[in-house]
Amino acid sequence: MKRFLTVGTTVLVLAGVSNVVPVNAEERHPTVAEQSLRALAARHGLAIGTAVDVDVLRDASDPQYRALAASQFSSVTAENAMKWESLEPTRGTYNWGPADELIDFARKNKQQVRGHVLVWQNQLPTWLTQGVGDGTISKAQLRDILRDHITAVVKHFKGKISQWDVVNEAASDPWDTPSSIHLKGFWAQHLGPGYLADAFRWARAADPNALLFYNDYNIEAFGDRGASDKTWYVYNMVRQLRASGVPIDGVGSQGHLGTQYGNFDAFQALEVLDAFSDLGLATAFTEVDARSQMTDGVRAGDSNEINPRLQASASNYSVLLQACLANRHCLSYTVWGFTDRHSWVPGWFTDPPEGLATLYDESYRPKRAYNTVKADLAFSGPPNVLPRIPQKPRR
Ligand code: G3I
Repeated sequence: MKRFLTVGTTVLVLAGVSNVVPVNAEERHPTVAEQSLRALAARHGLAIGTAVDVDVLRDASDPQYRALAASQFSSVTAENAMKWESLEPTRGTYNWGPADELIDFARKNKQQVRGHVLVWQNQLPTWLTQGVGDGTISKAQLRDILRDHITAVVKHFKGKISQWDVVNEAASDPWDTPSSIHLKGFWAQHLGPGYLADAFRWARAADPNALLFYNDYNIEAFGDRGASDKTWYVYNMVRQLRASGVPIDGVGSQGHLGTQYGNFDAFQALEVLDAFSDLGLATAFTEVDARSQMTDGVRAGDSNEINPRLQASASNYSVLLQACLANRHCLSYTVWGFTDRHSWVPGWFTDPPEGLATLYDESYRPKRAYNTVKADLAFSGPPNVLPRIPQKPRR
């Protein structure tokens, strides 16, 4: 007892002096800085994900990509490998290899997989677009082709995918003509609006357990709730789908942001997530990145131009993450690539050039955005941030 009191007193004295309770070095709890994003997100029951380029994943000369994809993230999305042109390049012949590699990687690293994407107007195989264009594929055949593709793909990955992006980017943008938001693209044009409900029903029939999402960009905040407000349009669209008994379980907000635009705050983003979850839907951020214009000064390494961009990018990541943490139905927060070394942004936005969109720089050094995401995960908790409420697939 005497010995216990002595030790106890020493501990208390030391703690009082240094404000730290001394512990055995081996038992030391990792500091926040030492913990991975996935460990910190797990406290919230939140999956933190990244899009993965399977070609880079298997590139032995770039091992850091694989190591960080495994250690920092608890969910992965195929950046391209599950798109129609990748999976079914020839009619009826499937190339599962790269997508299966990612599934295997996820299994080994105890990660969830978001399935991306079943129905989208981009990255369709030529046999499909040409066949419809030259009339050798009729409308009735096109509907059968869509059903067969969804069924084959969802069955192949059955039990391995937590969330499917069933329909992607079906809504137009205010800068399209007409500016009032409408269903756009190949599928609406050739099959009419009914393809959305069909797609969700076919996906549900093929895997009753995966959560089925509608996924889109520029739906992070409500505008004036008028005819050109895309967020408002998508909200009403999914409300109607839900009301008609279509098996849609969630809405994915992509979260492709640019620091040059008027951005919004966490409460504006939260308002949208809450509106979706009030319909009984799960929510997720599915493709977050925050790019900046690469001026001559940025490219020359001028810190006066680089620093505010890095700071603004970090703030954009944070706004979406804080909204997600505050909405208990927000199940996952996925970034669209995690390093500027392999980001879709520089290849896509060339005039003017844009970049600096991800969490790590081209040499895999964590940027301010990484540390801000980490801080948000670490320093949030009850009573305002509570663990996620899981979503059951709608039958
Ligand atoms: O298919 C060729 C391939 O054979 C060739 O080796 C390669 C060399 O550059 O080019 C290949 O295709 C590229 C493909 O990515 C695969 O790397 C396309 O040119 C390129 O346009 C394509 O870009 C993808 C883009 O979707 C296409 O729509 C991006 O990587 C991908 O990040 C991006 O992802 C989309 C989401 O799916 C939906 N939301 C928006 C997001 C960003 O655009």
